[in-house]
Amino acid sequence: MKDIEIKLNKIHQNSYFIFTAYKSFKRISEFLRKNFPNSSYVIITDQIVEKLYGEKLFQIIKRSGKKTLLFSVPSGERSKSQKYKTILEEKMLENHIDRHAVIIALGGGVVGDLAGFVAATYMRGISYIQVPTTLLAMVDSSIGGKTAIDTPQGKNMIGAFWHPRAVFVDLKFLESLPQKQFINGLIEAVKMFMTSDRKSFLYVERNIDMLLKKDKRIIKNVILNALKTKARVVERDEREVGERMILNFGHTIGHALENLSKYKILHGYAVALGVIVEARLAVNNGKLREEDFLRIRRLLVNKMGIELKYLRSYKWREILNHSKNDKKTKNGKPHYVILKEIGKVYREKDKFAHPISDMAVRQSLKEITLENNT
Ligand code: GLY
Repeated sequence: MKDIEIKLNKIHQNSYFIFTAYKSFKRISEFLRKNFPNSSYVIITDQIVEKLYGEKLFQIIKRSGKKTLLFSVPSGERSKSQKYKTILEEKMLENHIDRHAVIIALGGGVVGDLAGFVAATYMRGISYIQVPTTLLAMVDSSIGGKTAIDTPQGKNMIGAFWHPRAVFVDLKFLESLPQKQFINGLIEAVKMFMTSDRKSFLYVERNIDMLLKKDKRIIKNVILNALKTKARVVERDEREVGERMILNFGHTIGHALENLSKYKILHGYAVALGVIVEARLAVNNGKLREEDFLRIRRLLVNKMGIELKYLRSYKWREILNHSKNDKKTKNGKPHYVILKEIGKVYREKDKFAHPISDMAVRQSLKEITLENNT
């Protein structure tokens, strides 16, 4: 497979590249040698990825003769916390890692967000690269410079915009990815198509059976389309003052569910439930046609196996309370991205997220949870 590069230099003076190839480890060490010849290298990963790929990458990078360290955190959302950020920082300080060092974030969204945030604040900011190993991280979290940790109040509550110097997307990592994790990422890609790229949504709809069987050609097309969509949105609104909020479609409710479930519901699955509720909101608001809503629902529920029963586990009041912690909340009012049609969002001038009354959200939640499937 050929390399594909997407230049994101409009976002950051240090442009960065995305490769899709089956040879990322070699590429990473070449990149480090060329761009950071006098640095030490710190791989941050999790305990599962360490065994699968971390050790190997460590050995390859170490051949540079530069100081190379590997630290891993327990797998799972719990590591995206102040506690693990401090542990990593202390280990780096104890090992005399200086400000010229480069962090290599090898893993899924948790590792990418955590390692990126360590890079953002370590000695007032050092370079890092993203090596996403899950589909979710490939299509979404590794791109666009959002770094963060969670707090008991909610997801990504403390963080910074800090762009990686490069992102290496390598489809080989998907071979070891469990199906549930694969769907978890696919949901984020499909969500992007719902707000911004109708053609790609239709492509997923047409090819969903093959996609779920991990057909390489189809996966590659989906990843590239998602990357291009995300890159364009981030280029236009890096700091999320407007358009970037559309990437948050489904997240006002999704983050609330994720947090309420204590992260037992995976991010993508929570977002899928949020997408269904928020698409219903758009129908009830007179913005989205019922037909488009049914299409979205069919793809997520009938094809991708999203179970609506999880919505029934929480009281609407709890969900609404948690949704107020969302970062789109303004003056205590949660804001929602509202779909206009598949591939387009409703906007009022430069406003991409809109306040919706608690009663309207309650009504949509009620309609979805009363539906009698799964
Ligand atoms: N994951 C949403 C964003 O990067 O803005």
